[in-house]
Amino acid sequence: MAIADAKSKGAVVGLVPTMGALHAGHVSLIDRARRECDFVVVSDFVNPTQFNNAEDLRTYPRTEEADCDKMSKAGVDVAFIPSVEEIYPEPDTRVFDLGAVAEVMEGAMRPGHFNGVAQIVSKLFALVEPDKAYFGEKDFQQIAVIRRMVELEGFKIDIVDCPILREADGLAMSSRNVRLDAAHRAIAPTIHKVLLSSVDYAKDHTVGETERYVTEAINATEGLETEYYQIVDALTMQAVDASAKPGDGMVGCVTVYCGGVRLIDNIKY
Ligand code: PAF
Repeated sequence: MAIADAKSKGAVVGLVPTMGALHAGHVSLIDRARRECDFVVVSDFVNPTQFNNAEDLRTYPRTEEADCDKMSKAGVDVAFIPSVEEIYPEPDTRVFDLGAVAEVMEGAMRPGHFNGVAQIVSKLFALVEPDKAYFGEKDFQQIAVIRRMVELEGFKIDIVDCPILREADGLAMSSRNVRLDAAHRAIAPTIHKVLLSSVDYAKDHTVGETERYVTEAINATEGLETEYYQIVDALTMQAVDASAKPGDGMVGCVTVYCGGVRLIDNIKY
């Protein structure tokens, strides 16, 4: 109702989709939406269809009261906090033809994950009808998948990708960071340190060598275990020639297990 009212007055509507457990990274998305839009909607919904692991869904942090506080301090116009029944009154059986962009990396490791993301984001887009939607680059591949879904569904929505926000020690902000115990929280910043050092390393090495360098350097820290590190084309998410030099238009995406917590991060070359 409030959204329709704002639209009827010609307001530019911005949507920041989240799964709650809001941190400064989310607030930076909201701040950007505030600067660029007249009316800002934030959705706060832990979407079950994008979890391919029941334990991950069960333990996903839920901090609704603190989220509401942060949203109101950030000047959000509408906080949309639906129940699972509201979003999925019946099972969502839609299968999106997301193509190659969704088949690699997270798509390969988490079967069904991106289809679930496409389901919820398309529902939110249809409900809110925003002019712009804001996503963090920590989930770099997710943005490419959402662009593909937008193209498939014909949404006229500007997808705005926003830089990763980091803790002072370099760890990419993530709702999952609160699940790290003290010992693992202390070693987690190694991921970003290694990625940063790989930019220098890459100046005199190939993609294949740089991938090996990052994987070995992260795994050398006890408690960190790389699931994958891949340097890909930043638009298509496809692997680039291992003998090429890392450079413009390439991004290195990593997933690391840190004390049972799955962390992701990336770096542009
Ligand atoms: O990035 C996230 O938090 C989620 O994948 C999103 C986009 C809010 C969809 O549930």
